[in-house]
Amino acid sequence: MQEAFTFSDVLLIPQRSSISSRKDVDTRGRISKNIFLQVPIISSNMDTVTESTMAIAMARCGGLGLIHRYSTIQQETEEVIRVKRAESIVIDEPYTLSPDQTVAQAREMMAHHQVGGLLVVGAAKKLLGVLTTRDLMFQNSSAKKVTELMSKQLITGKPGIDLETAEKLLQDHKVEKLPLVEKNGTLVGLITAKDLRKRKLYPRASKDKKGRLLVGASVGVVGDYLERTAEILKAGADVVVVDVAHGHADHVMKAVETIKKKWPQSEVVAGNVATYEGCRDLAAAGADGIRVGVGPGATCTTRIVTGSGVPQLSALLDTARITQEKDVPVIADGGIRDSGDITKALAAGASSVMLGQLLAGTEESPGWTVMKNGTKYKVYRGMASLAANLSRKQKERGEEDLGEEEVAQIVPEGVEAMVPYRGQVEEVVRQLVGGLRSGMSYCGSKNLEELWKKAKFARITPAGWFESKPHALEK
Ligand code: XMP
Repeated sequence: MQEAFTFSDVLLIPQRSSISSRKDVDTRGRISKNIFLQVPIISSNMDTVTESTMAIAMARCGGLGLIHRYSTIQQETEEVIRVKRAESIVIDEPYTLSPDQTVAQAREMMAHHQVGGLLVVGAAKKLLGVLTTRDLMFQNSSAKKVTELMSKQLITGKPGIDLETAEKLLQDHKVEKLPLVEKNGTLVGLITAKDLRKRKLYPRASKDKKGRLLVGASVGVVGDYLERTAEILKAGADVVVVDVAHGHADHVMKAVETIKKKWPQSEVVAGNVATYEGCRDLAAAGADGIRVGVGPGATCTTRIVTGSGVPQLSALLDTARITQEKDVPVIADGGIRDSGDITKALAAGASSVMLGQLLAGTEESPGWTVMKNGTKYKVYRGMASLAANLSRKQKERGEEDLGEEEVAQIVPEGVEAMVPYRGQVEEVVRQLVGGLRSGMSYCGSKNLEELWKKAKFARITPAGWFESKPHALEK
């Protein structure tokens, strides 16, 4: 019988290091063959963890967010679009209004797309004006036409304008939006001052070639999964995540194969698996990245309910061979409780880590904060928990309550709980990355490849783990 260990069963042995500053450590990792991340941290595709707000924050930090699939295709697609439009060098298709639309329609459109300004165009996309929230600020008459309020004194740029010139134009004219127009006045794009500021504010952000933030989105393997894949890819998702609890299954391999055949250029991450054989088969089916983790997650009860799973550190040590053999990165998914676990997961061979619990308490996760005994919390639930199952089924049939018998049929493999409120994602990720940099330098490793080669684990006892944590102190 095989022995298997998890993060708290081991420590990384400190090694001679030539690194004098943590800043010299390069944390770059990967989620899939062609998607590199300056910060190898991914927010999990759970409905209490990642929607567009989280995905935007994660990408700005240099990581990545995966939009969950527990919504309609349209809702998931809209979340992807929000991330892709959150910032870019040039917005190719800015949101537009026609001059005879009303203040009410403009307000609705701004709120829906979460933007502070709209361009007003006439026939053949001829630019007529710019309307911003400032123009609408003291407007009581919602029936008023946009044309009466928009600014018509337009400062525009030519298509292909360089960013320095665009920035100067915005500064000189004290405007926030620079529409790009052809000689004949046709609108072809938009540069915003906000996007230019963000470029400087988040230098490590994960971006595509057009300067848009990277985002992943999830699909299942039955029902409408191909339609969902088509829509999220059309919306600009950079990674498709084929998301199944037991990924080492024939129908999952088939789904991966089908997606890769239909969209050969797409980056497909598949999982979850916990063995080398699972990785080998998913890689053979065409997966560009593999999620490893069966049952380690904070809300998971899979191992208790089914008796199946592999302690996460051993799962990673076993599966990460696939990266050396087939250049397919492994994502360590679940069970990470602090930055030390991130270092251990990467040292075991993973190319990135996926977090649920550590990010669920942040401002950017979906859901409200709740107060309990004077402390702030957020709800965090397993996607196979009873609550998640019920709300999924209710959504499928239009919020209709389920019958008792139907509820009794559900066998949950997860729980619902609360996690302490942790503030902004940026701060949480900064702490985690600081710990990771330090951890890598203890291993004498400047980058991930060095960490993989040099890392040495020591098996520890429960007393060793006890000694590792603060102890013998007055509380
Ligand atoms: P952490 O520990 O970061 O783990 O909260 C997040 C990962 O947990 C997985 N997940 C589940 N696993 N039952 C499970 O067995 C569930 O209900 C469940 N919900 C999420 C998932 O892989 C996630 O990324």
